[in-house]
Amino acid sequence: MKTVTTIGQLREHIGRARAAGRRVGLVPTMGALHEGHLQLCDAARRHADEVVLSIFVNPLQFGPAEDFDRYPRDLNRDAGLVSSRGVALLFAPETDEVFPNGSSPVRVHAPDLGNVLCGRFRPGHFEGVLTIVAKLFNMVRPDCAVFGQKDLQQASLIRRMARDLDFGIDVIVGRIVRDPDGIALSSRNAYLSADQRHSALALHRALSAAQAAFAAGADDPAVILGAARATLEAEPGVATQYVEVVDPESLATPDRVGRGHAVAVAAYVGSTRLIDNHILEQAGSVP
Ligand code: PAJ
Repeated sequence: MKTVTTIGQLREHIGRARAAGRRVGLVPTMGALHEGHLQLCDAARRHADEVVLSIFVNPLQFGPAEDFDRYPRDLNRDAGLVSSRGVALLFAPETDEVFPNGSSPVRVHAPDLGNVLCGRFRPGHFEGVLTIVAKLFNMVRPDCAVFGQKDLQQASLIRRMARDLDFGIDVIVGRIVRDPDGIALSSRNAYLSADQRHSALALHRALSAAQAAFAAGADDPAVILGAARATLEAEPGVATQYVEVVDPESLATPDRVGRGHAVAVAAYVGSTRLIDNHILEQAGSVP
């Protein structure tokens, strides 16, 4: 595996791969890699010959009071993890390589899909995400790009951006990777104390409660969300920001809940904001 830090080196490497007729797949990340990211690399390998993983902690998507400064950064550790997962190229640019003029006055904006769920609480966040992903798409020009269902709203927005702005890139969404106790892997889990990690399990329990209500025949959003909310409220270490049931494409709340709709939750555990979701499936499926 090769590591490059400039767009010039990136394009040189990709130009060679393309000339050899290889299909290029991109996995964008902000580093602090875990098994969730690594399984996105596995998925990319299944859809492409040459996998590029990018690591860039994108300042545009963090609010002023958020964790940009303390976001975990360890390039050597991350490089070690991806080198054994079939990644051909690690692209890890510095901020001034990506934003040579300090920032980007031109942004990609998606008002309808970007202002619901997390967007209600993180103004400007999805504009920052879409802008950096559009830049990465243009830098790499991959045939496909892989994102995680863990960030359900992000994945929907990126799929829509690729379609609406005619990027001609297949957007693939990989399943959520969890620890054996159910907690969804996240770079931000590193902020949790042992007690807080225990509290954070309530997010997964809430999704399981919603799934159980659905499997038992409920199709009223209020009933399904009530089951999830009751589970969260029973855990004093968790402050719920939202629990919603949505269509994962339109992000709208359905009148009647059916298979394929998603239950999405965001909550604070201490000062750490966590998100998780589950796509409702046939009776018996457990998140
Ligand atoms: P980051 O949080 O590093 O996540 C990178 C990718 O990993 C995202 O597509 C995310 O959905 C996926 N991911 C995170 N946790 C996962 C899990 N437990 N299982 C499976 N996939 C998981 O998301 C971002 O970075 C940024 O917003 C980015 C798209 C890179 C733009 O800056």
